[in-house]
Amino acid sequence: MKEVINTIFIGDVVGKPGLKAVQTHMPGLIEKYQPDLIIANGENAADGKGITEDEASQLTVQGVDIITTGNHVWDNWKGRQILAQNQKVLRPLNYPHGNPGLGFTFYQIEDGPEIAVLNLQGRTYMQAIDCPFRSADFALNIIKERTNIIYVDFHADATAEKIAFSWYLDGKVSAIFGTHTHVQTADAWILPQGTGYITDVGMTGPYNSVLGLRKDIAIKRFLLQTPFKFEMGDGDNRICGVYTKVDVATGKTLIIEPFMLPQPLKRYN
Ligand SMILES: [Fe+2]
Ligand SMILES: [Fe+2]
Repeated sequence: MKEVINTIFIGDVVGKPGLKAVQTHMPGLIEKYQPDLIIANGENAADGKGITEDEASQLTVQGVDIITTGNHVWDNWKGRQILAQNQKVLRPLNYPHGNPGLGFTFYQIEDGPEIAVLNLQGRTYMQAIDCPFRSADFALNIIKERTNIIYVDFHADATAEKIAFSWYLDGKVSAIFGTHTHVQTADAWILPQGTGYITDVGMTGPYNSVLGLRKDIAIKRFLLQTPFKFEMGDGDNRICGVYTKVDVATGKTLIIEPFMLPQPLKRYN
């Protein structure tokens, strides 16, 4: 029986460039970290807007076990279908009742314990959905009956909301991976009660873009203050993620280590 669980969490996979980065770098990451579990946020996998079975299967082929999402999962009409049918694809739990999909799930580690993955979304500068703090309490009441190894994707915009959330859940979950902003933060650490945390895991996608959006379109949106059609950027594709090692006996994080591959050394002239 395993004494530690190695997990890789991959940040928001954006379109084909993101899927390509996963394909390029996942074999090396698997060799390095020997993960028992791979989670990826797929809210932007279908050309920036949601996820369909096609992108989900491309991630699964690369070893991804559970896919989390966020606000952009609803941008794609096919997303509702995958949420209703594929229990490996989660959406934030705290959307109103009546929406399809699961907000948390359990996964049996081979020769190890059962683990839980919980997907929640913040409310600051985002949709006014149910309270993520109270929704976490609700979910943990159910989850704790089965396992103390719990990973949370907290999909939120405001750094303060994410950090407050991490203090609220310190010692109650194994690790919290922030997603949604598409920029990796330099604050990965283990809170005093043993919860691993990073404010944002970062984007897996094209860095020759504005968070995945074609640069010229993004600039026009800001200059002209009117909507322009979303088109994916491309080039300088990188993968962002976080590795954690969790102690099976306590459910606490022993190691948390973010990565971005390849390292961003390139400059644009
Ligand atoms: Fe995203
Ligand atoms: Fe998002």
